[in-house]
Amino acid sequence: MIQLIRGVKDILPSEVELWKHIEETAMMLFESFGFRQIRVPILEKTELFQRSIGEHTDIVEKEMYTFPSSKGELITLRPEATASVVRAYIQQRMYAKDPIHKLYTIGPMFRKERPQKGRYRQFYQVNAEVFGIDAPYIDAQLIYMLTVFFHRLHITGLEVHLNSLGCPACRPAFKQALSEMLTAESEALCSDCLRRKDTNPLRVLDCKVPGCQAVVKNAPAITDYLCDDCARHFDTVKAALDQMAVPYVMAPRLVRGLDYYTRTAFEIQTAELGAQNAVAGGGRYDNLVAALGGPSQPAIGFAIGLDRLVDLALTKTSVSELPPDIFIAAMGDAAQKKAFEWSCELGREGIKTEIDFSNRSLKALMKRANRMSAGYVLMVGDQELKEGRVVLRNMRTKEQTEIGISGILSGILSILTPNT
Ligand code: HAM
Repeated sequence: MIQLIRGVKDILPSEVELWKHIEETAMMLFESFGFRQIRVPILEKTELFQRSIGEHTDIVEKEMYTFPSSKGELITLRPEATASVVRAYIQQRMYAKDPIHKLYTIGPMFRKERPQKGRYRQFYQVNAEVFGIDAPYIDAQLIYMLTVFFHRLHITGLEVHLNSLGCPACRPAFKQALSEMLTAESEALCSDCLRRKDTNPLRVLDCKVPGCQAVVKNAPAITDYLCDDCARHFDTVKAALDQMAVPYVMAPRLVRGLDYYTRTAFEIQTAELGAQNAVAGGGRYDNLVAALGGPSQPAIGFAIGLDRLVDLALTKTSVSELPPDIFIAAMGDAAQKKAFEWSCELGREGIKTEIDFSNRSLKALMKRANRMSAGYVLMVGDQELKEGRVVLRNMRTKEQTEIGISGILSGILSILTPNT
């Protein structure tokens, strides 16, 4: 018996209903905020992630699934989607016609993390990315859109955690202060952070090792180091959130696990999922498009973690499986043959049709139709075929209607979809 590999999972048909509901809710909402869907590949050159997410991040240092192509070039299963969307924006010269693009994408990501509840090696995200707008209103609008999204799914108890990560003008002073403070506390840091306090001190702020977490409690706050432009931007984001009555929590140590962020950074957190408490995260990345060889265009985006969201939504949103419109109970060889034809035609007409070709007794088939909550059952045996008529039973009212076999399709359609 071949089993799943560690950290991945099957999403079964009974669960897919909820996944689809969440994805469709996101698509409809995002499109009403001006987003259009983009589909980017799952495989990209490793260099794309090294240069965007950053060499000294957990993702790039330890978590990527990387392998050589037949030409010896390194290729990676994408650990996130932002880098690919930026690559497409540049490579397809999307900016040439209009620098402003609002794009969303849905799909699997891959990170070789230690699996636990809410943390998988193949997981799914909905990403939204905006290019070409530097106004702080768009930052607030994205966060607002996220809160509407969670509201539509009836998910409560979420908090917006908000920070600003500054820009290349003001961040160095903060990094310097942080690095000095970490050096003074070196003996309490884990081996990774001991190295990162010099190479990439911001990463120490989101280290999960308890010793490091205790140290960073006393770290300086980046918001105390913002330059005037960054401070003004951040103030307007906060005022715009207030204007739309979106509550948020100031999170001065929220740095996110990826290096490309500038200015606004945020996470949507829940208290209900234990350690894996972030259901969505994002922020501005004003320098990434240029850093990857594109024009200098500001950008901001976020990703929602669908796996965690499904866990949360399971208790809040009830999406029941759609029962079949019609169940065909066919008994006898000739009836099976005819029922095969009808089931194909009904499916083609968009009628949700169930037939199992099992040739069992009417009693057994009715039992199954009941279990599936079928709306109607079409009963046909070889005798009925000879007589040229079949019986359609409304399972709710128990009313039975005889339908002639010639013109059966339109007969069934007129009963099942009387208004069309
Ligand atoms: P991220 O914070 O790495 O950001 O991931 C976003 C969300 O994906 C997380 O909040 C979490 O819900 C989910 N997630 C991450 N890793 C896992 C995992 N191993 N298992 C299950 N769920 C997971 C990004 O990926 C950025 N690209 C977001 C972004 C878009 N920033 C700007 N644009």
